Amino acid sequence: MKTLGMQSSRRQFIQQLGLGAAWLGLAANTSFAFAHNTSVLPFRQNAQPLLLHYNENSLGMSPNALSAAKIAIDRYGNRYPGASVDELKSKLADHHQVRSEQLIFGNGSTEVLQAIATYAARQHATMIEPSPTFGALRGYCEAENMNVIQVPVGQDFEMNITAMKKQAMAQTGPVLINICNPNNPSGNIVDFTSMFDWINNAPDTHLFLLDEAYFDYAQANPNYKSGLDLINQGKDNVIVSRTFSKVHGMAGMRMGYGITTIKTANKITPFAAGFNLSAAGIAAASAALDDKAFYKKSIEYNQLSKTILVNTLNELELDYIPSDTNFVLHRIGAPLADYTDHMQRNGVRVGRKMTLDDRWNRISLGTPDEMNIFTQTLMAFRQNGWV
Ligand SMILES: Cc1ncc(COP(=O)(O)O)c(C=O)c1O
Repeated sequence: MKTLGMQSSRRQFIQQLGLGAAWLGLAANTSFAFAHNTSVLPFRQNAQPLLLHYNENSLGMSPNALSAAKIAIDRYGNRYPGASVDELKSKLADHHQVRSEQLIFGNGSTEVLQAIATYAARQHATMIEPSPTFGALRGYCEAENMNVIQVPVGQDFEMNITAMKKQAMAQTGPVLINICNPNNPSGNIVDFTSMFDWINNAPDTHLFLLDEAYFDYAQANPNYKSGLDLINQGKDNVIVSRTFSKVHGMAGMRMGYGITTIKTANKITPFAAGFNLSAAGIAAASAALDDKAFYKKSIEYNQLSKTILVNTLNELELDYIPSDTNFVLHRIGAPLADYTDHMQRNGVRVGRKMTLDDRWNRISLGTPDEMNIFTQTLMAFRQNGWV
């Protein structure tokens, strides 16, 4: 298992926390220690719940987005939002340097995935995806009775592009290929060289959905490239999906979209719900695009939270998959059901079963404060033999 982890010693870790010897004494005595017959840690009794299970953004949304949403409800809640959809479309098109006609809006990006699944089903396509991956597209394809082929990821959760390509080439008819990049639940990116090489040489009948819900957290990685580059080169068999649910902290507003060439957008759009955005969501998304300071803060806090988590995982010698997202898949050294049960009792919601091997947990990165509480909880779990 290749991880970033394991390099830092216990001493280094304590120093990183800035707690030193005092912390060691405290931990050994009482603060984190608790009786073995008690399932709730003293510092978690009646504590605020920690929601670290859905890869949301604990920062909330930009204050500007929030006030724009409130104003929109107040002023236009009784009106259909036709004109403002068009305005957002052209703003988003400018943002991505594409044409408005290349965009397909969804009530969350999952709704765009649904439209793509319906389109692919009408073509009698087979769907190919890695396993594990985000399951929404698979759900829609199965509902359409499509043939779904899942290709296991490698030992380090790396996507097996060669095996997926082989499966695609073995099909006689159209194929829809689902590449979630970075992938969920593993948080790792797909190396763009092999992926771009595959897409550049694939037949037109192979349609690639690149789910880039976590794009914003990954773009700094030099081995990451968005599929938008391929669309800009005129590749009609690529669709990228993006969302306002993650870095913009708007999961509850349900705003997502797809980007593709005009030719492909014209094929998918008839299957999209259309007229599916609310005045509040549109106004919030528009303000979120303008609020560069919040965007930056969102990325920075996520990085800080990841460091806090990773330091603790190293300290506890729990392996993890290096993540370019707002969550981390890590070993728990215990059956997941017991672990989630203990976490739940302590007011912490963590991931559900997402891997074949049951001793992994996907934890969302909350605010740095939340991650400090989570890592304290994890340390106390270790003391109690729960991880
Ligand atoms: C990979 C991926 N795509 C899409 C979504 C859903 O996004 P939305 O809220 O835009 O429907 C998620 C949500 O967790 C996700 O992990």
